[in-house]
Amino acid sequence: MKIFAYGIREDEKPSLENWKQANPDIDVDFTNETLTPETAKLATGANGVVTLQTTPYQRESLQILSDLGIKSISIRNVGYDNFDFQDLKDFGIKLSNVPVYSPNAIAEHAVLLIGRLIRRIPEVDQKFDNGDFTWAPTIGKEYREQTVGVIGTGHIGRVAIQMLQGFGAKVIAYDVYRNKDIEKHGLYVDTLEELYQQADVITLHVPLTSDNAYMIDEKAIDQMKDGVYIVNCARGELISNDALIKGLDSGKIAGAGLDVLDHENNVFGQKWGSINNLPDPTIKNLAERINVILTPHNAFYTETAIHNMIEISFNSNKDLIEGKIPDTLVYSAK
Ligand code: NAD
Ligand code: COI
Repeated sequence: MKIFAYGIREDEKPSLENWKQANPDIDVDFTNETLTPETAKLATGANGVVTLQTTPYQRESLQILSDLGIKSISIRNVGYDNFDFQDLKDFGIKLSNVPVYSPNAIAEHAVLLIGRLIRRIPEVDQKFDNGDFTWAPTIGKEYREQTVGVIGTGHIGRVAIQMLQGFGAKVIAYDVYRNKDIEKHGLYVDTLEELYQQADVITLHVPLTSDNAYMIDEKAIDQMKDGVYIVNCARGELISNDALIKGLDSGKIAGAGLDVLDHENNVFGQKWGSINNLPDPTIKNLAERINVILTPHNAFYTETAIHNMIEISFNSNKDLIEGKIPDTLVYSAK
């Protein structure tokens, strides 16, 4: 059996080496390049593919893999919104993900973004850089005074709720499928509108689907409290950048913490020297604001997460190739 992996980074190699040693009968080869029509043929001779990228998986890439007889793809991450399931169906490809590699990694990142926003840390840092060691006017707010609206109470949202409650915040939540535990504690509101009306801080932990693209648009923002903080560690396309900028300009939105951004692939993953050189004017606009904290889709990026992403994705790919159904299965045409 042979597995070919795309997008393998240096930091993944020790975990990959561990997996290879534990599975000596399996031939593993890899490239640091992502899966594209140009790189798809590198998988020739493999039975399955393990991959990770934030850019769309192109139909042509999947067609080439299918023509090579590869019908098992395992992504090393959670979100599979960059696949078109029609392509998987047409080529008879099975897909697995890693649904739980470390919800804590992302939840911590979101909770830290909230803390940095409400304590105005970027402004304090900027003052510090200018040799200004005074208090005013950068007075902060405390978690315990905040009502935090958590949208999405799956693996990550639930850990975020625990962490926020640990800091003393009042949490309200919304999900299309309710979790029994969260329900028992009376955290759910019935509608997004209610959450928007009550929350001082909103944090997103839902997958991107065809139903919720740009759910945070002008209309949603109008329903929010004046001075709301918005944090997004889920998917960039959940928020309209233009609506966000409008809300920030008017002061309706006091600040935003964004690990993901619409059109993030225009800038993330590259070194630009300075934010002055960012080629995307909308993202540059956001990056220049002192009340906007951008992180380069690295909420997931911890040692624990990387190790689990490799272990679970390769185990899943092995299962798929052997005709087993891993509990990480996302899609199977049959
Ligand atoms: P999950 O599947 O465990 O939970 C998602 C929850 O969202 C579920 O409870 C589901 O019922 C709910 N949901 C789905 N659509 C909804 C909607 N329209 N409105 C309200 N609720 C809805 O997923 P998770 O592990 O918690 O991850 C959530 C998302 O976080 C992923 O889909 C991915 O896009 C993103 N993510 C980002 C990073 C990062 O590094 N920034 C890392 C991992 C995951
Ligand atoms: C995910 O796991 O869905 C992420 O967003 C992490 C990223 C490496 C794609």
